Amino acid sequence: MEKKNVYSAIQSSGIPSLGNYLGAIKNWVDMQNEYNCIFSIADLHSLTVRREPSQLRKYSRDMFLLLLAIGLDPEKNIIYFQSHVHEHCELAWILNCYTYMGELNRMTQFKDKSQKHSDNINAGLFTYPVLMAADILLYDAEYVPTGADQKQHVEICRNIANRFNQIYGDTFTVPEPLINESGAKIMNLQQPEKKMSKSDDTGVIFLFDEPNLIMSKIKRAVTDSDSKIYCSPDKPGITNLLKIYSSAKKISIEQAEKFFADKNYGQLKTCVGEAVIELLEPIQKKFVELQNEKDYIDKLILTGKQRASEIAHKKLQKVKRKIGLI
Ligand code: TYM
Repeated sequence: MEKKNVYSAIQSSGIPSLGNYLGAIKNWVDMQNEYNCIFSIADLHSLTVRREPSQLRKYSRDMFLLLLAIGLDPEKNIIYFQSHVHEHCELAWILNCYTYMGELNRMTQFKDKSQKHSDNINAGLFTYPVLMAADILLYDAEYVPTGADQKQHVEICRNIANRFNQIYGDTFTVPEPLINESGAKIMNLQQPEKKMSKSDDTGVIFLFDEPNLIMSKIKRAVTDSDSKIYCSPDKPGITNLLKIYSSAKKISIEQAEKFFADKNYGQLKTCVGEAVIELLEPIQKKFVELQNEKDYIDKLILTGKQRASEIAHKKLQKVKRKIGLI
């Protein structure tokens, strides 16, 4: 039976957080045998926030290395930079003409980001979901594994694909979001009512943090004045630690609750710290090894570009034909 296509991407807008790992890229590794996977580094999306060119370059290359370090096989999967395949921007322009302002106005991430970057509310920030739709639709993805914060963007992508298909006949595969329960939304350790984000200054575990730093960040995580360990909307700090633990250990939330039922907050934090350190240490080690493999990495970057371009080119040609471009 033919394998189904999976597409996902991550921005190169900073050092990835534990949220990125548990909510998204760790699941990519689990999917690589069962699906035909295409993963990109969304460096064009990263331009919606202004940053130093040298820093963007470093974040982007480090992200490529990291995807290999977490265990993605560059032969089984297509791994590439979004900006290396020009078809993404071309299709995004076309899809802009099939997307309504009202739809984009409803995007909660646009509202959040324009609040956060009120000095730079650019058009790219607004049309960002259309570029994301182009990413997904170029590769006929059936599934899009992401954290919960991207669900709305996958939904708008579905609407755009359905609208286009209705006008021009079957052109795009309509994708389904795939959201993993325990890691879907890892929260900031200092403000557990807010998502952990790689652009935050505090309360974030970065994937390159050293073990001592990881432990001290988790020890300082905000909890509550109760002493019982269970998930509940009025215990966001403890719920978050339980989610991190269950996701790191690959057990269910219920199993984690049971394990900590007779333990105290101090013991919970130590166990969560140890689980995260155990999870990240081999990745960090592999990442350092890959930094010394410049030629090998350059070759993989080129291969990724070629493999992705081939698919994207065919799809864009089909779209252009359907809409009447010569
Ligand atoms: P980005 O770079 O913000 O995040 C990458 C992935 O990490 C997930 N994520 C989280 N999951 C759980 N808890 C958190 N605290 C957390 N923070 C981030 C995100 O849901 C995402 O899956 N627009 C996308 C990138 C993108 C994309 C695409 C994704 C561009 N094109 C096509 C899928 C398909 C973004 O900014 O992700």
